[in-house]
Amino acid sequence: MSVIAGMKKLFSKIKSAKSQSGDKHDIEGAEQPESAQQQDQTYISEAKIPVEENLSDETLTEPNESSSAELAVAAQDKKPKPVKKRDLLPPYDGPVLEVRNVHRSFQTGSRIIHVLKGIDMEVNPQQLVMLKGRSGSGKTTLLNMLGGLDQPSSGDILFSGQPLQDWGDRRRTALRRREIGFIFQAYALMPLLSAWENVELSLRMADVPRSEWKERVGHCLDLVGLTKRVKHRPFEMSGGEQQRVAIAKAIAHRPRLLLADEPTAELDSKMGAQVMAVFRNIIEVEQVTICMTTHDPTILEVADHVYEMADGRFIK
Ligand SMILES: Nc1ncnc2c1ncn2[C@@H]1O[C@H](COP(=O)(O)OP(=O)(O)OP(=O)(O)O)[C@@H](O)[C@H]1O
Ligand SMILES: [Mg+2]
Repeated sequence: MSVIAGMKKLFSKIKSAKSQSGDKHDIEGAEQPESAQQQDQTYISEAKIPVEENLSDETLTEPNESSSAELAVAAQDKKPKPVKKRDLLPPYDGPVLEVRNVHRSFQTGSRIIHVLKGIDMEVNPQQLVMLKGRSGSGKTTLLNMLGGLDQPSSGDILFSGQPLQDWGDRRRTALRRREIGFIFQAYALMPLLSAWENVELSLRMADVPRSEWKERVGHCLDLVGLTKRVKHRPFEMSGGEQQRVAIAKAIAHRPRLLLADEPTAELDSKMGAQVMAVFRNIIEVEQVTICMTTHDPTILEVADHVYEMADGRFIK
């Protein structure tokens, strides 16, 4: 099945489950599209008080069998059994990420390509860290490993003090779903879902209790300045707005780490600056830590720390 056909199927399942259960998002007050000038004025609300964190002692449960998109999501991606969030990571005051002498090689045919050649880095809580470097220098390869999407050929990556490579697949997947948010250059939104539904979907996938969805989705869209776009689907939004939905989606489940691969690459400089302002805001309000890659020299000054890569190494 093609991706589009798959997404259409998912969307129709969500719709039919909603109509059966009478479940509707409470988005009264959501307004229709405004002029571009008005859109700019709606951007970035004042820093909001974060919603009380109350997941720490909670058993995150399997999706409710009778509920909407969970059925479709579960069918595509078999979920792990319930894991208590408190069991995933013990308390740790040190860096969110510690990377020690990480190497990564790929085999293509009979050739071995040595892409990362001894990376050492640290990312501390509530920092905005950027990886810069030429195309092919290894930024995405490293970012994927920081998020547990890929494993080093050698070396260690500690996430909040825990060596992820020693964890089993199931526990690592659970950690990724609950503690890490991903943002990509091309937004990666579900095209048939509204901004609200896109953010809500990430809460479903992270097993966040349904009772929290409404408040959390509203809060996250507010944080990125999109309270007036909640009903819009991606094609009804500008690139900067779509990227801000993607940010709301990535932080909705309260990850401690946000990883962003070239999040401003598709945007003009003004929209890129807006995205960086949103990043700064969510670090403060959500106490999240951000590691991102970029080619754009104009946004580097926003970073707390910049690592420059060349040919698989950091330049001192
Ligand atoms: N799975 C893979 N198999 C083989 N080679 C790979 C693989 N993934 C990445 N590479 C190679 O590793 C090198 C670094 O790729 P990577 O995507 O990390 O670069 P990058 O710094 O993110 O570049 P860009 O700025 O263009 O996104 C490239 O030469 C690429 O071809
Ligand atoms: Mg890349």
